[in-house]
Amino acid sequence: MASNFDQFLAEAIAGLKEKRNAVILAHNYQIPAVQEVADLVGDSFELARAAAMVDASAIVFCGVDFMAETAAILSPAKTVLLPAADACCPMAEMITPGEVLVLHERFPDAAVVAYVNTSAGVKAESDICCTSANAVAVVESLDAEQVIFLPDRNLARYVARFTKKEILPWDGYCIVHDRMTADEVAAARRAHPDAEVLVHPECRPDVIDLADHVCSTSGMVRHACASPGREFIIGTEVGLLHQLEKKCPGKAFFPLSSRAVCVNMKKTDLSAVLAALERFEPRVTVPGDTAARARTAIERMLDLPR
Ligand code: 13P
Ligand code: SF4
Repeated sequence: MASNFDQFLAEAIAGLKEKRNAVILAHNYQIPAVQEVADLVGDSFELARAAAMVDASAIVFCGVDFMAETAAILSPAKTVLLPAADACCPMAEMITPGEVLVLHERFPDAAVVAYVNTSAGVKAESDICCTSANAVAVVESLDAEQVIFLPDRNLARYVARFTKKEILPWDGYCIVHDRMTADEVAAARRAHPDAEVLVHPECRPDVIDLADHVCSTSGMVRHACASPGREFIIGTEVGLLHQLEKKCPGKAFFPLSSRAVCVNMKKTDLSAVLAALERFEPRVTVPGDTAARARTAIERMLDLPR
């Protein structure tokens, strides 16, 4: 139940959004109040596709910096606002453009796949992007037999299970998903023996081995709604429970780990969204040359058949 103050902020946001001709895109990990004022709540792939297609003058991106950068790259004519200017993704900061150039030199025949959780500069030095929803299809679409996959070592190893290509993983990881353990899966199964276990591919291989399904955040929502199962253990950031409970009423969802909180995803609140719309800042922009090269890598991904 929204508080009176949240209600007041939500109404002010709705009015200003219209005046500014803005759309609000929110990632599945945002706090419930922010998800509720968004025009679209989704996973990284859905949000990138929406950013490329929406008909608006401005995009308010409720997520972390690389997501807003991707929106700015795909929609250079629109104003892209990131209400929490300091919301970053520590995994995206685990690789630099210079390090990608060194990898190109060292493995000249390899293609470079950049997870969208990377800076614009890293995307600009990569051949193609991927998200957790399409990583295997992206790797399989490449001509190269050797693929450098960055920055997430866990997603890289997950993809390697489904391809004959040689995958060379960078040693990055998500500080939220990499902390989940096989012991936590065993304890959750003991507590909820009838529940299906859904985990994100950013989890460690031994956690993935114990799961029933491995999918992106929105993939988990689709799976839980379609499944005859009534109970689910959710191995991703806890913010997803709001969408799961909303979209699959009558089913029960239990977080695999109550520690699975991405502090950066929680930096956006309704006051910050309203302030961003009022002030039309903080804006996210990407310099022209970097944006053009990063756009090629992102559009290659978006152009793949679904
Ligand atoms: P998806 O929502 O694309 O599955 O990604 C999860 C994530 O960690 C985004 O930062
Ligand atoms: Fe980055 Fe992990 Fe937070 Fe996603 S959940 S934004 S990958 S730190």
